[in-house]
Amino acid sequence: MPKLIPRLPSTNSHLPFGDMQNSPFYGIDIITVKQFDREQLTYIFEVAHEMYEMVSRVGSFDLLKGKILANLFYQPSTRTSSSFTSAMERLGGSVIPINNVSYSSVTKGESLPDTIRTLEAFADVIVLRHPEVGSSALAAKYARKPIINAGDGVGEHPTQALLDLFTIHEELGRVDGITVTMMGDLKYGRTVHSLARLLSLYNVKLNYVAPENLCLPDEIKAEIGTKGIPQDCFADLTPVLPETDVLYVTRVQKEYFEDPAQHESLKGSYVITTETMRQAKSKMVLMHPFPRVWEIDMAVDADPRAAYFRQMEYGLYIRMALLAMVLGKA
Ligand code: CP
Repeated sequence: MPKLIPRLPSTNSHLPFGDMQNSPFYGIDIITVKQFDREQLTYIFEVAHEMYEMVSRVGSFDLLKGKILANLFYQPSTRTSSSFTSAMERLGGSVIPINNVSYSSVTKGESLPDTIRTLEAFADVIVLRHPEVGSSALAAKYARKPIINAGDGVGEHPTQALLDLFTIHEELGRVDGITVTMMGDLKYGRTVHSLARLLSLYNVKLNYVAPENLCLPDEIKAEIGTKGIPQDCFADLTPVLPETDVLYVTRVQKEYFEDPAQHESLKGSYVITTETMRQAKSKMVLMHPFPRVWEIDMAVDADPRAAYFRQMEYGLYIRMALLAMVLGKA
């Protein structure tokens, strides 16, 4: 009698047993935005568009019927976790939700590799958020199923950057030729680390507005510099606001400060108000990965340039596209 569960292959191919398909994304891990080129991004956006059309027309459909996603979150999440759940369920699949590892065997000391090898016995793809930089890459070394990085500490958040770029593309109709200003916590903000890298594939100008101690890390600036992208740092938004096509605001993350007083001292310094919007271009796109705390006044929400709630919805279509692609169905 054949074995019910084959032994591990000698290489970590991530290909599900007996299910070979031709898609270049089939079975791959999504760990960093560095793995994408412009052609692939265009393809992902085309698939995301198709997902939008299908959701608009029929709500959900059975593309991934029978497939299971494990949502493994070691850090809190509202958008990433729930949009991956929604994406999988709209595609007809189902989800194992581990959104609070304190109720899992992690509290008994289980290692990340063991948790991953456990979940892949039950699921076809694993979405992982973890506080340590490199955790998704580590998980991918042990996994035979695709790992999707949903944020690895202060490292990267590649699916957020894909949805951010898709938002810019949808809102402005182009990415080349624009000026993007990133404001807030650029040092610890994994969303900006990923987005700045993705934008460097295009003909853009990047402005960074942050307190001196929270500016984009030098190694990321150097990496982007090698692509010939003009970059400038500013302590204040005023001089760059009039030229800005996309203003990407981020939260100053309390959880990364050892000294609460240092966090408090920054509070209120970088806030977008209706007055700020009066100084901005009439077609500027205002984005934020959320959650927001005090960085954008709620009065700004009524401004049509405030794209952050649409940005979240674009994330659904991007994540549907990614799940379908890594599972060989797009
Ligand atoms: N943008 C984002 O990652 O939000 P969550 O932390 O709520 O997932």
